[in-house]
Amino acid sequence: MLGTASHPGRFSGVSTRHFGTTKSNESAQLFTLTNAHGVSAEITNYGGIITRLLVPDRDGRLGDVALGYNTLDQYLANSPYFGALIGRFGNRIAHGRFTLDGRVVDLPAKNNLPGNIPCHLHGGNVGFDKVIWTAEPVTQHGASGLQLKYLSKDGEEGYPGNLAVTVHYWLTNANELKVEYHAVTDRATPVNLTQHSYFNLRGEGSGDVLGHIMQINGSKLTPVNQGMIPTGLITPVGGTPFDFAQPTAIGARIGAQDEQLAFAGGYDHNWVLDRRGPGLELAATVYEPTTGRVMEVLTDEPGVQFYGGNFLDGSGIGKSGKPYQYRHGFCLETQHYPDSPNHGNFPSTILRPGETYRTSTVYRFSTR
Ligand code: BGC
Repeated sequence: MLGTASHPGRFSGVSTRHFGTTKSNESAQLFTLTNAHGVSAEITNYGGIITRLLVPDRDGRLGDVALGYNTLDQYLANSPYFGALIGRFGNRIAHGRFTLDGRVVDLPAKNNLPGNIPCHLHGGNVGFDKVIWTAEPVTQHGASGLQLKYLSKDGEEGYPGNLAVTVHYWLTNANELKVEYHAVTDRATPVNLTQHSYFNLRGEGSGDVLGHIMQINGSKLTPVNQGMIPTGLITPVGGTPFDFAQPTAIGARIGAQDEQLAFAGGYDHNWVLDRRGPGLELAATVYEPTTGRVMEVLTDEPGVQFYGGNFLDGSGIGKSGKPYQYRHGFCLETQHYPDSPNHGNFPSTILRPGETYRTSTVYRFSTR
């Protein structure tokens, strides 16, 4: 237990408890980060998973806006990456194969979509979402945080190089959850880390997210083929169901006749963000009209994968006992573009010895 009182009647800081034991007998802990307004995030060092996120609605009522499970065993048994850290590589790499410095690298690849071509998804069979990270509660400038470290060994899931990764989660008193990623390697390797939280701003387990109002500051997209792999083109979204320049309900155009929507079964695409420079910039704003909750996503990444929960099928029973069905949550995964190692025209995801991988994303909560 560790904490500091900073608001009358409120506890802010970080508390720790046992969460469960993995199949290989490793102990997972659950850390609760709380800020001065009672906003809290529960995070386990298994997969760096955000298991719970309590934020106020427009009447000040806290609600849990993150899909997830009550027990570690449920995460071990069946989780479509609920709340997890993703690595080494967010999203798909075609056939799990790419050429790096003249050498072909083969990663585990499988069919993860019915009838489609094999690919490597979210770091492979045992990605960063399924490992135990070394965790330590930390505080900085009044924010409570969690430091997570993981050493991904040379050859793990087929990737070259020992990759030493540090992720910091910070919960600030401005109701921001900040994720800072840092990595170094001893051999050139692709790195593309992200966070796979599924949000429902009305509250997890409250139904679909089609009424959420989405705005994305990205006027271009990396369209995909039937295997959900980028074609390599970068195309404007103007005039298509992918244009979220103006705030628009997720469900407003999701049933439109559109090849990209058909390939993905809805929204599951990488938007190329309209960036003005380096540093944190607003990528997306989501507003939920019934509760008034707003989530802004800021990032220094060039892209965001907006995934609308099209593969949720009710097989996961959420924290309040309700099954998570089709489109009951959405993800905004800030990252470099999918399949970048196979597209020379995309920003590079290759990290080399002597370089430092550093990126951050902020989820900022407010109400209207
Ligand atoms: C991908 C989806 C995939 C999901 C896994 C998302 O990041 O874009 O296509 O099915 O992760 O739950």
